[in-house]
Amino acid sequence: MKTIITIFMFLSTVFASELPEEFDRELYNAGEKVFDNKCMQCHEKSMDIQLLMKNFLEEDNKLLNLKAPTGNEISFRLKQQIGSRDDIEFHLIQTNDFLVDYLFYPDKAKTICLEGVIRHFDTMPSQKGKVSEEEIEQVNHFLYFLEGFNGVNKYYHDETKF
Ligand code: HEC
Repeated sequence: MKTIITIFMFLSTVFASELPEEFDRELYNAGEKVFDNKCMQCHEKSMDIQLLMKNFLEEDNKLLNLKAPTGNEISFRLKQQIGSRDDIEFHLIQTNDFLVDYLFYPDKAKTICLEGVIRHFDTMPSQKGKVSEEEIEQVNHFLYFLEGFNGVNKYYHDETKF
């Protein structure tokens, strides 16, 4: 019995450290659908970071010919540039506010992306009238957890192994 409890406690700490309690699978899946339907005509979902850096910084985007930054780049920069990760529940509100503002009133002056990446693109066309605030909340949850959390999707990689 003692061993079972120890194993259980061990497993729960492992899972707790990987996926925060704010992660909501249903919301994530709904957000992924929004992304598939309303963003993917321009944004690829996830691509290898080394390949992306080579494409943007060495090959002038001629290697991949991307129309926009990828979902995983946005996921990383969104969490890094907007608000603070200390409180995930509040951080999700901050990233959502940024997305609502950017999707309705895009302006590269507000960019969260690296200069070396963003200079390859014209400003995103406003998505006002094309995506609702509810859908943005869903896509925010998807974008937040797309990159950097183990157990969410097949794209996870261990950043410490680079
Ligand atoms: C018609 C093409 C197109 C569609 C559709 C589109 N985007 Fe974009 N998006 C772009 C381009 C081009 C950029 C890069 C230029 C920029 O940042 O304004 C971009 C940039 C962004 C950025 C980064 C903004 C920054 O510069 O910091 C976010 C976030 C984003 N898009 C989210 C979305 C989401 C979410 C959707 C779907 C609801 C979406 N986009 C739909 C073309 C598009």
